[in-house]
Amino acid sequence: MKTYNVAVIPGDGTGPEVVAEGLKVLNAAGNKFGFTFNYDTFDFGGERYLKSGITLTDKDIATIRQYKAIFLGAIGHPKVAPGILEKGVLLRLRFELDQYINLRPVKLYPGIETPIKDKGPDDINFVVVRENTEGLYAGAGGVLKKNTPDEVAIQESINTRKGVERCIRYAFEYAKNNGRKKVTLVGKTNVLTFAFDLWQRAFNEVALDYPDIKADYAHVDAATMWFVKNPEWFDVIVTDNMFGDIITDLGAMIQGGMGVAAGGNINPEGSSMFEPIGGSAPKYTGLNVINPIAAIMAAQMLLDYIGEKEAAVAVETAVITTIAKMTSQSAGKMGFSTTEIGDLVANSI
Ligand code: IPM
Ligand code: MN
Repeated sequence: MKTYNVAVIPGDGTGPEVVAEGLKVLNAAGNKFGFTFNYDTFDFGGERYLKSGITLTDKDIATIRQYKAIFLGAIGHPKVAPGILEKGVLLRLRFELDQYINLRPVKLYPGIETPIKDKGPDDINFVVVRENTEGLYAGAGGVLKKNTPDEVAIQESINTRKGVERCIRYAFEYAKNNGRKKVTLVGKTNVLTFAFDLWQRAFNEVALDYPDIKADYAHVDAATMWFVKNPEWFDVIVTDNMFGDIITDLGAMIQGGMGVAAGGNINPEGSSMFEPIGGSAPKYTGLNVINPIAAIMAAQMLLDYIGEKEAAVAVETAVITTIAKMTSQSAGKMGFSTTEIGDLVANSI
């Protein structure tokens, strides 16, 4: 029987609770389709940092690099200043493992409520391919005369031809392999005339290799408007790191909230990391109330990534079935607990 080695980073807050449900579902999928997992757990996150002052060591990076798939709960701790864990753990992993794609499906499942009036599952079904190693996130820039009236802060967006092109090519390949018909570059060519000129030229060139896929463009500000007004216009979106960060929170809202939104930090040739995009939700830690669907869908993306396509489809179907069941049973009930939802999905598989 085939065994997959998976690195598990439960992380902070409600991360461990939702990761447990994700693993429950991975195991159920393995049982059903004839494979198993070996999980190695890593304690990266806020608690470890508070105890030791360490975010990640070079050895941690070298160890985790050995795993093709990583499953992450959440990183973020109320007792740690903003930026330390984000940069020291999450962004460091993305950069060092060269996970140059952040893949974020925005898909509304039947029975899940969207705040957008008159739009349903047929309208809200696209994916965002966010560049994940460059742009404003690269950390280029600096500060002069800090804490004086003359302080200067410069934060530069790094866009390399190689980094941009591989991201755009991934988006077109994704479209081709997943029956998608259109790729939209989301940028700001009317103002950011250096960075998005490079993006636009690379985009136009790559698009020539995919004559069956429509190549489109939208300014990022207009795109936020259309997410709300005409989400059905989008199929595959490709964009830079910062714009991708912003529009995928909006995307998560129109697909029903952070409790259902999943993402993959992907290095197609290396080590990839899958996570619910909702964060550590410290207020709700230990209460068994957080929706694990986002973590379960992150596990679903992990299955797809390791090549267990049939199992991935089965998990998505089980999630859809579970949501339908929850919707029909929720009358008179206050909702479902984290573990109950995990059980429902696992049993449905
Ligand atoms: C995300 C998060 C991260 C990001 C933070 C936590 C560093 O917002 O995954 O979208 O900005 O990329
Ligand atoms: Mn974000």
